[in-house]
This record gives sequence, C-alpha cells and structure tokens, in this order.
Amino acid sequence: MKGVSYKRFGGSEVLEYGELPEPKLSQNAVIVRMMAAAINPADVALQAGFGENFMETWFPVVPGWDLAGIVERVGAGVVEFQPGDEVIAYTHQEILHSGTYAELVSVPVERLWRKPRNASWGEAAGLPLAGLTAYRAVVDTLRVSDADVVLILGASGAVGSLATQLAVGSGATVIGSASVSHQNYVTSIGALPIQYGDDVAEQVRKHAPAGVTAIVDCAGHGSLATAMAVAIPGTRVCSIADGGPGVTTVFARPDSRILARLVDLAESGSLRVTVAALFALADAAIAQDALKARSYGPGKIVLVPDVA
Ligand SMILES: NC(=O)c1ccc[n+]([C@@H]2O[C@H](COP(=O)([O-])OP(=O)(O)OC[C@H]3O[C@@H](n4cnc5c(N)ncnc54)[C@H](OP(=O)(O)O)[C@@H]3O)[C@@H](O)[C@H]2O)c1
Repeated sequence: MKGVSYKRFGGSEVLEYGELPEPKLSQNAVIVRMMAAAINPADVALQAGFGENFMETWFPVVPGWDLAGIVERVGAGVVEFQPGDEVIAYTHQEILHSGTYAELVSVPVERLWRKPRNASWGEAAGLPLAGLTAYRAVVDTLRVSDADVVLILGASGAVGSLATQLAVGSGATVIGSASVSHQNYVTSIGALPIQYGDDVAEQVRKHAPAGVTAIVDCAGHGSLATAMAVAIPGTRVCSIADGGPGVTTVFARPDSRILARLVDLAESGSLRVTVAALFALADAAIAQDALKARSYGPGKIVLVPDVA
C-alpha cells in the first residue's frame, strides 16, 4: 500500500511518500481503507519531536490520528462492523508508529464509530480529534448550559469552531475570538465575533458587561492570560492548549460514547466540520506546510488518497 512516513524528527521535509507494508489484522481490530485523513497540529508537533519526553517513538512513523474510511476486513473477534461499513476513528496510540496517512489503517474496534451519513469524507475525517476535544471541554468539563455566557478563544479554529457550535447548541450566549478575516465565519456558526489581541477584555465587555461565566481556550498563544480579565467569581475555565491556576487542561481521548454523540449531532445538523482544503496523500508535506502557514480559510486540512 501507499503511505507517508518519516524516519527522523523534523518538519515536512522528513515526510516520505511511498510503498509501506500493509497493516496486520488483529482479532479485535478492523482494516479501514482510508478515504480521508485530517491533519492536526499534533501531527506536526510530534513529528518535530515534541513528544520525546512522554511518548515512545518507533521509526518509521506514519503520522496522523484522524480517519474516515470504509471497512475492508474485520478481525476474528469483531461483530460490531463488517466490510463495506463507512466509519470514522480517532486512532491515537500511546506509541508513535502507525497512523492514518496511509491507504490502509488497522484500527482497534473501540476506536471506531459509523460515519455521519450527511458528511463528506473530508468533513467526517475532521470530526474525531477536534470533536472529541471540543466535546470534552464544553460538555464534559465545563457543562455549558443556556444559563452561560461563554467566551471561546480561537472560535475560528478546528476545535474552536466545534466548541462554539456545541456551546451555541446548549443555548448559551457565545462570544468567539478570531482574526479579522474570520469574523464572518464566527458569526456564521452562531457566536458574537471579536478579534484576538490585547484588547480582548474590552471587546468582550461590550457584549457581556457583567463578564463571562465560562471560558474555553482553543487558541493557546497565551491568549488566556489576557482573557482572564473578564472572568467573574465562579467562572469555569478550561484550555486545550494552555494551563495555569484555576484552568482545567483538556486533552482529546478515544471515547466511542462521545464519537457516537458527535455523529448524532452532525446528522441532526447541529455540528458541522468546515473543510479548508483537500490534498492528495502524496502531497502530505505540502498539506502540513499549509496547516502551519494557515494559508487557507478556517477549517481542516484533509488528506485524501487522490484529488480528482
Ligand atoms: N488538548 C488537545 O487534545 C488538543 C486537541 C486539538 C488541538 N490542540 C491544540 O489546540 C490548538 C488549536 O488546535 P486547532 O486544530 O483548532 O488549530 P487551528 O484550526 O489552527 O485553530 C487555531 C485557532 O487559534 C487562533 N489563533 C491563531 N493565532 C492566534 C493568536 N496569536 N492569538 C489568539 N488566537 C490565535 C486561530 O484564529 P484565526 O484562524 O482566525 O487566525 C484559530 O481560531 C493547537 O495548539 C493544538 O495543538 C489540543
């Protein structure tokens, strides 16, 4: 099979496209034919060696954790899926070795769920990692409700846009920060847009003079420190990219309960992944550079086996 791998840490220049051994099929796993694999900032960071202190790395590494595809074969112990099923997966493993930038991917059955019927392959591939993170932040951690006024930092981002839609769906009033060019996008997903920068607190107060009851930092870049000025006593705060006193740091975690909920929300029209661009698997290096440069509009950069 064709796939993308790297044999040493580095930037996009270490990625090699070529022939790779097909994955083996274990009893409780399925082999999925990749139709789309979303690129995440984590792929790029781990490839640069960011995980060296907390993760084993077995070279060569096939990067990627986000997958949408068609079940090709099922292991002897698998009764939940059959060949031909359309599925999504967050394939995170504790060892960095076999990811989703490949034509065939072996996935443990508990990491899979059915693909949203109304989603394109690209939209489906963008849902697992970003959706799991957003859901854990907005629903499981902060328990956002219609009584809340929520500030989402990075509302135009892959995670932030899903966090925004989840918070809006709960009935909360949502204020979302983004760059000047993504203000209309933030409005389109139901939030009151503000621009990130040093005067975030002043902009928030125009929409919420009494302050906000919850803050979800989906941006990092130190933006949480400035935003804390609009916290009031009892404001719940979490971040997917930062930490600190009173801040709950949230990480994506494989969880089929949440995947199932995300698929239901996508099918009901309450949650929509934006796809910024599709790249052929062979162009994974160019795609990663596009992600880093943020040279496309808001949304996910997604790899597909070939671009028509
Ligand atoms: N904890 C976890 O499990 C987890 C999971 C996924 C991601 N992450 C991390 O969370 C972050 C966002 O991930 P993502 O996939 O959503 O990335 P993304 O799609 O690139 O989104 C980044 C967001 O940050 C905003 N932003 C960019 N520069 C900024 C600045 N200087 N100040 C404030 N905001 C700024 C962007 O706004 P514009 O696009 O409008 O400029 C955008 O809304 C990354 O650091 C990623 O590594 C963590």
